[in-house]
Amino acid sequence: MTTVHLDINGHEHELSFDPRVTLLDALREHLSLTGTKKGCDQGQCGACTVHVDGERVLSCLMLAAQAEGRKVTTIEGLAAENGDLHPVQAAFLEHDAFQCGYCTPGQIMSAVACIREGHAGSDDEIREYMAGNLCRCGAYPHIVAAVREAAEATR
Ligand code: FES
Ligand code: FES
Repeated sequence: MTTVHLDINGHEHELSFDPRVTLLDALREHLSLTGTKKGCDQGQCGACTVHVDGERVLSCLMLAAQAEGRKVTTIEGLAAENGDLHPVQAAFLEHDAFQCGYCTPGQIMSAVACIREGHAGSDDEIREYMAGNLCRCGAYPHIVAAVREAAEATR
């Protein structure tokens, strides 16, 4: 067992678990933060995307212990304290950018980082920088439209 201190969405947690536990499993199984989804569990689908120190990370490929002392943000931590949705969340709703919704938290976390990185200047750029997030429903045109609108709103 190892003890890890995690800063998740601005809250400190002290957890003890097997050092092989991934950040994804720590979030879902130990903290009940099930907004972060497990799709492939091997770095292929993007469903598990979270931010670590503001950058997107595939939480299935990172050990929870590697997040010690770093700031982790999940989909649960994106909205404002008063419940106002993040502009990317609002744009996904407005553009109907999901069907089953399973990939949606990862898409949104990726889109927020993509816009912050300045990689959402055109539809082609959005497609390229969101390419690691797969949607089996094929909601891509609506996802691109939502990301484009949110990117334009922040310019
Ligand atoms: S669950 Fe992590 S990339 Fe698919
Ligand atoms: S909305 Fe279903 S997998 Fe993307």
